[in-house]
Amino acid sequence: MGMSAETKEGRTAATSPLRVENLKGYFARNKATEGTQMNVQELERTARAIVAEGKGILAADESDGTIKKRFDSIGVESSEDTRRAYRELLFTTDGAEEYISGVILYDETIRQTASDGTPFPKLLESKGITPGIKVDKGAKPLALAGGETITEGLDGLRERLAEYRELGARFTKWRAVISIKGREIPSEYAIWTNAHALARYAALSQEAGLVPIVEPEVLMDGEHTLERSFEVTSRTLHAVFTELRDQRVQPEGILLKPNMVLAGYECPVQPTHEEVAHETIRCFKRHVPAAVPGIVFLSGGQSDEDATSRLNEMNKLGPHPWQLSFSYGRALQAPALKAWGGQEENVEAGQRAYYHRAKMNSAARTGMYAPEMEQEAVPA
Ligand code: 13P
Repeated sequence: MGMSAETKEGRTAATSPLRVENLKGYFARNKATEGTQMNVQELERTARAIVAEGKGILAADESDGTIKKRFDSIGVESSEDTRRAYRELLFTTDGAEEYISGVILYDETIRQTASDGTPFPKLLESKGITPGIKVDKGAKPLALAGGETITEGLDGLRERLAEYRELGARFTKWRAVISIKGREIPSEYAIWTNAHALARYAALSQEAGLVPIVEPEVLMDGEHTLERSFEVTSRTLHAVFTELRDQRVQPEGILLKPNMVLAGYECPVQPTHEEVAHETIRCFKRHVPAAVPGIVFLSGGQSDEDATSRLNEMNKLGPHPWQLSFSYGRALQAPALKAWGGQEENVEAGQRAYYHRAKMNSAARTGMYAPEMEQEAVPA
């Protein structure tokens, strides 16, 4: 697109009034900002609680289309009631709160209730789990970009955020999708437009008193190498943190939800877990401010045990400036979904499977996971 990886055409120097050297004068001039500053502390408290030691996030925010795909894989029809029953299985799992600090809900789910009539956000809160909400409206074709996507959902977002807060959400999620294809994709155009949208969403969330989970996902689909994933993840994080700063988003009050630096599924040379850990940390040290409380990885189609082992290897390399945790969808749910299979009599088996994965990922938070621990799983 005629731009180098490190610059954005037409960009002028950032003049954010929240630069540290300007803070004193800025607050003296602008009374209204004092409130904002209070908010940042509140946001930071929420963000830090979500990445508390040994804890991470369950991503249960599959859109109707995605949950249908998951249900198709176990031969279960996706209806409002089967979706509700499945989410109830997850949310009522006894003891999961030892390892799970937050759950990301979907628009339908945040309005649903458990069988006893308790709204899901209330149920989670009663266990000390913070409810969150996916607020983007999915990745759509980016104009004039030949197959790349832009995530939509900014129109009316301020009003939707206010409603979600009323419904009990304390954090939000927005996922941008970056594909790797050949040498030309991703374009700087796709990277920067997605970064801009992520920052607009993050600023609106912070304004509403909700911690934004900023999710720029570089997909692992394709034949690309570990080195190429490093390069694209690096360009993406550079754009995301530039836009966040320019749009006055406070790094203390966000969580980053990225991909790990991985070779594409179809790459003939697959790195070891140690190499993945090393390259991922090397990349993030370059781009993620130490002020960000936590990095909560997505699993992105890795097997559940790979996702756990790689997180474990990264934490073994610590201490790091940020907490390194998980916000897994598939890697926390796949065995539970299979054990349940849509049958009421399998609810307990599903819960045991989910509890086990949560426990394994909790161990990976401190680098204490070992594959032998998988044997602890109580057979379904
Ligand atoms: P996966 O862990 O299945 O990638 O899901 C996490 C998520 O929330 C993707 O947006």
